[in-house]
Amino acid sequence: MKLWGGRFAKETDALTDHFNSSISFDARLYKQDIIGSVAHVIMLGKQSIIKEEEAEEIKAGLLSLLEAIENNEVTFNEKAEDIHMNIETLLISRIGEVAKKMHTGRSRNDQVALDMRLYVMEEICTIKELLHDLMEVIVKVAKEHTETIMPGYTHLQRAQPITFSHHLMAYFEMFKRDYQKLGFTYDMTSSLPLGSGALATTTYPLDRDHVAHALGFNEVCGNSIDGVSDRDFCLDLIYNLSLMMMHLSRFSEEIILWSSHEFHFIELDDAYSTGSSIMPQKKNPDIAELVRGKCGRVYGDLMGLLATMKSLPLAYNKDMQEDKERTFDAIDTIKMCLPIFTAMLNTMTVRKDTMYKAASGGFTNATDAADYLVKKGMAFRDAHEVIGKLVLYCVTHSKDLENLSLDEYQAIHPIFEEDIYEAISLITCVNERKVKGGPSKEAVTAHLHAADTFLNNL
Ligand code: ARG
Repeated sequence: MKLWGGRFAKETDALTDHFNSSISFDARLYKQDIIGSVAHVIMLGKQSIIKEEEAEEIKAGLLSLLEAIENNEVTFNEKAEDIHMNIETLLISRIGEVAKKMHTGRSRNDQVALDMRLYVMEEICTIKELLHDLMEVIVKVAKEHTETIMPGYTHLQRAQPITFSHHLMAYFEMFKRDYQKLGFTYDMTSSLPLGSGALATTTYPLDRDHVAHALGFNEVCGNSIDGVSDRDFCLDLIYNLSLMMMHLSRFSEEIILWSSHEFHFIELDDAYSTGSSIMPQKKNPDIAELVRGKCGRVYGDLMGLLATMKSLPLAYNKDMQEDKERTFDAIDTIKMCLPIFTAMLNTMTVRKDTMYKAASGGFTNATDAADYLVKKGMAFRDAHEVIGKLVLYCVTHSKDLENLSLDEYQAIHPIFEEDIYEAISLITCVNERKVKGGPSKEAVTAHLHAADTFLNNL
């Protein structure tokens, strides 16, 4: 018997039951649904909308049902449509008539909005912890490499020397922003929809502030129509997760490049690599590739839900049942990617020598050579021209700036002196960039210190 069967003269078709049902994917909301119902009935009792003893009886029934679900003693039924009606049906069968009072002054529309908000808030806390672990590992590895010189790239062409620490800390900044955005999304989500009813609240004297307080919400949704039809909080979260996946995919891409034979900057631990079924020599960065690939999937979740929500008239529409799989998929994906990515990063070996060698060829110190001339009084644009000529000379004679003789330098311009070699050494190039946010050991150490402070205060 359907909980809403009264108005119907015949049974729904089996196809309808199957198509309409969401229990196969919203079953995971059982805890939020029960906790929300407990807060609701306690408030109903307090407001004398139902008797306090009835509220207590329903609460006890709900908590014992929660335990039964967690002990795997309960099977949900597709015919009961969704988690909300499954729980209510089960409760009626377990504690009898009194359970039928639970849904007083409530609709599934505000109930599902509540469950989703509670779920999103809880998952944000979990994801923040995973992100915290990742940031900690980034800082740990970065601390070991404040003197590990590598080429920095633009256009994937060697540009200027930096340190591996400086490079890693760029990712720290991205994940720090992600962390902060999750906090903002949490605050946006922390607004209680329960009490909105189907769309126009109710005539019962509900105490919404009491329920909000009991469930840990910061406030009550200010408009009941918006309360039941808003899914911005799901979209905010999936957008945050899309950015996070984008950052992980860029990092993965670099890890894939760096572990190639051509770069050979790092070696991934065997525990986080895979082999080939045909080529015995292969060691593949599958984990990084999968993380990179799963980024597209989370973008798909974002686009999918945006498309679902587009043009929906107010207030609730069944289309919105589609919010769940998109939101759950994005959450599940990030929760799979973050821990394995963190472990992969934590165990990789860094090839300092190859990094240094790569920074040495390729004229990464050409800007510093130009700056050397500027410090001797030449205008930067003229210095750029002189060094450009030097680089052309080196390219045609297969030489580097470091191994030109002073005669060769002076043949291009007499201003060069013996101190040019010191000025363009990679270590000078890196450590003279003491500007805040720069690659010098001094600047990166200050950044690492700020990062520690940030992490310790979370
Ligand atoms: N399973 C539904 C969902 O996820 C619950 C709300 C149903 N409300 C309704 N009026 N049919 O959106």
